[in-house]
Amino acid sequence: MCGIFGYVGLRSATPVLLEGLRQLEYRGYDSAGIATLDGGLQVVRSVGKIAALERRLRDRPLDGSCGIAHTRWATHGAPTEANAHPHTDCRGEIAVIHNGIIENHAALRRELEARGHRFRSETDTEVLAHLIEESYEGDLEQAVERALGRVRGAFGIAVMRDGEPGRIVLARRGSPLVIGIGVNEHFAASDVTALVRHTRQVLHLEDDEIAVIEPGGFRIARLGDGAEIDREVETVDWEVGDVDRGGYPHYMLKEICEQPETIRNALRGRIVLDEGIPKLGGLEAVMDEIRRCRHVAIVSCGTSYYAGLVARYLFEEFTDLTVEVELASEFRYRRLNLTDGTMVLAISQSGETADTLAAVREAKRKGALCLGLVNAVGSTIARETHAGVYLHAGPEIGVASTKAFTSQVAILTLMAVLFGRHGRLSLHEGRRVLTELMRIPELLERLLERRDEIAALAQRYADCEHFLYIGRKFSYPIALEGALKIKEIAYVHAEGYAAGEMKHGPLALIDPSYTCVALCPAGDLQEKTLSNMQELKARGGRMIAVATEGDGAAAAIADDVVEVPATLECLSPLLEVVPLQLFAYELAVRKGRDVDKPRNLAKSVTVE
Ligand code: F6R
Repeated sequence: MCGIFGYVGLRSATPVLLEGLRQLEYRGYDSAGIATLDGGLQVVRSVGKIAALERRLRDRPLDGSCGIAHTRWATHGAPTEANAHPHTDCRGEIAVIHNGIIENHAALRRELEARGHRFRSETDTEVLAHLIEESYEGDLEQAVERALGRVRGAFGIAVMRDGEPGRIVLARRGSPLVIGIGVNEHFAASDVTALVRHTRQVLHLEDDEIAVIEPGGFRIARLGDGAEIDREVETVDWEVGDVDRGGYPHYMLKEICEQPETIRNALRGRIVLDEGIPKLGGLEAVMDEIRRCRHVAIVSCGTSYYAGLVARYLFEEFTDLTVEVELASEFRYRRLNLTDGTMVLAISQSGETADTLAAVREAKRKGALCLGLVNAVGSTIARETHAGVYLHAGPEIGVASTKAFTSQVAILTLMAVLFGRHGRLSLHEGRRVLTELMRIPELLERLLERRDEIAALAQRYADCEHFLYIGRKFSYPIALEGALKIKEIAYVHAEGYAAGEMKHGPLALIDPSYTCVALCPAGDLQEKTLSNMQELKARGGRMIAVATEGDGAAAAIADDVVEVPATLECLSPLLEVVPLQLFAYELAVRKGRDVDKPRNLAKSVTVE
């Protein structure tokens, strides 16, 4: 999705802005642009990668110590130079960059054109530049405030004006914006990862807030009544190295390999083994309310939704709660009957996913207790839920989610044991699960040592046109996740199915062009999955089994076997998913795909 970066200080703005844009590249974009105040407002834009913008800037260097920059992901109007941000007003004095969607842009545009404004793009954003121009009476902040009074929709904007150097005005409704605080310099970004290179002191804007940043300071006020807002500065605990590739060819591979560490971080300080109980500080204040709940509705999207599906089995196994797991994009449109005893648990890596946020807001409006399981500290979902738990997985830059998923599942296991221990789960059982959970990072380290094996497997299956992933119970969401990874980064058709569904339709599809990936860990359900595998094999497809180390049953049917260390059935997703992530990665690399930034996708889906 689009990215915003702004700088005001004593340095030359252009290199700082370009570096900021590079940090935002992972969000996905198709054009980029930059504006600085360099003896007047100067704008340079280009279609394509940031490298193309840099080439333009070599021909037309921009100086000045105040500037804004943007990566655009086309929504209104094609990815052309004219549609790239920043957009300017008729006189070329005001520059605006914008994330979000102005819903009433068509009506506003007609009005503005009738009053003589000349538009140069097809974007919704350009109306903002002209509205601010019309509202300007000597003070940019007031002009932005008045202009925003006319628009409907979502925005995170950064605005500057010739004649007011050293000043950037920011405003937010529905689209994230963070201020970075430096010494004699300030930054603005749509994502905190872009700021950590410069500062760890940050401040998140809330919806309906306007801010001004200058070299020597900043201020935040409420849109509408202008009331000043005094908010505590937050310190980000990420290292610069967390947002570098650290020697790996892709962020995705780095993030896959980080999982032993990120799971350790997720568990650190959160397990009281003697009492067989997790300690989740973020939930303590609402624990009494949680104990009164009888039902949990889990809402999320994509990979986070699959973590929710794993949680359904975990919660049902350990607690007395009834559980529903719903795609946030559907949940928000249901006629919800959220009774007193319902809590809503929103799972989101970014904490900014529009549908998940909308679901949280709807559930809150109906009076439900809302919990968040979020990675991005200070993100909107983290702030708008009543209580929650952070993943502490560090920034996830690869568009395909990997380490966030395993951290989500690890913490959902903690939640299930915690809620269970307040109910029917025994001390012995609690201890047994937690002890084994603490062993997972070590088991993952062992598993990751076999990376070459998975690379060779991907080589053997590189020509496969269709993949069918199957699994039962805990392995079912992993089948869905494995198929999603193939689709999104290798661009190969893949489907995930509950193994028991084969006879209800999908079996008809199977021919030698299909490869089946069967998840069949040792356990009660293994036999049933083995017979599904037999049925598939008989239809001529190739087959890879993901099975428990030393278990020969799957090997007798499948063409290839990926072994994962033995663990408790309820923890098997944490191990099974990793070879599937690696397999998708290796397949995508062999196909020459843009692994970290797959086509048509964005890291943070802040629009519906
Ligand atoms: C898949 C993927 C997406 C996200 C989904 C939700 O690899 O990354 O499916 O999981 O867009 O995003 P968050 O977790 O940020 O709400």
